[in-house]
Amino acid sequence: MGYGLLKGKRGIISGALDENSIAWKVAQRAKEEGAIFTLTNAPIAMRMGEINKLAEECNAEIIPADATSLEDIEKLFSRSTEVLGGKLDFVLHSIGMSPNVRKGKEYGDLNYDWYKQSIDISAMSFHKFMQVAEKQDAINEWGSIVALTYMAAQRTFSFYSDMADAKAMLESIARSYGYRYGKLKNVRVNTVSQSPTKTRAGGGIGGFDHFYEFAEKMAPLGNASADDCADYVVTLFSDLTRKVTMQNLFHDGGFSMTGISAEVLEMIKPE
Ligand code: NAI
Repeated sequence: MGYGLLKGKRGIISGALDENSIAWKVAQRAKEEGAIFTLTNAPIAMRMGEINKLAEECNAEIIPADATSLEDIEKLFSRSTEVLGGKLDFVLHSIGMSPNVRKGKEYGDLNYDWYKQSIDISAMSFHKFMQVAEKQDAINEWGSIVALTYMAAQRTFSFYSDMADAKAMLESIARSYGYRYGKLKNVRVNTVSQSPTKTRAGGGIGGFDHFYEFAEKMAPLGNASADDCADYVVTLFSDLTRKVTMQNLFHDGGFSMTGISAEVLEMIKPE
């Protein structure tokens, strides 16, 4: 059931690859709340064709854009304001990829060309989105920009490799651009630090299934699902959160504030 939270709002939603994607769920919820938006993903991801189903369901145009290409991003923003008939109110950055993680490279054996790609795709692209938006003056006053991140930006998780560095940079960009965009246009910028979630990006991380179970047992409310995340992101796009900016917001069932849970303690109890 929708509450009309995004009635009359326009936006861009990136990163919907298949029905497990967090962005996929955000698109469905945003539609339910009355928003109109465009969808975007890397041209190579389009080949899977899944996104066409979502576009049809949401009555949204798909605008292919490689998040590392400034030219693609410029087209994404100009075309979006054109087809949606005005400036934007929200943008979702739901993009992450590390060739080092994907190919199982440990943190002490990184390929530096791939490291640059991880940073470019997963962090610098967020800056590019906002710089292009600012230059095109594509976002309305009190607009909201959200990127998805993970707690490995603050605390070390052995399996997260160079993605941890990319996420730390992403969160820093949210603060720096949040200040700038706030002063300029009252636009807010936040990151949502999400629980481990069973998606293509999540599953690409070695040991993910074990870790998912661990986090589930640690968090007093259990892991937050992609659907839960979509609910939260919709509130951040809505007018109910107009003074929240430059924050990294944990959406993890309480995991980040739990030292150890009774369930995990029980599991490691000596015989
Ligand atoms: P996903 O695999 O469904 O989404 C990742 C998206 O990034 C895909 O749609 C992919 O096509 C897109 N992408 C990759 N390279 C790109 C490029 N060069 N240009 C444009 N798009 C590109 O997985 P998920 O989990 O929905 O990921 C979304 C975001 O959530 C990512 O930033 C991820 O790091 C973050 N996140 C995921 C968690 C998880 O456990 N799944 C936990 C915390 C954060």
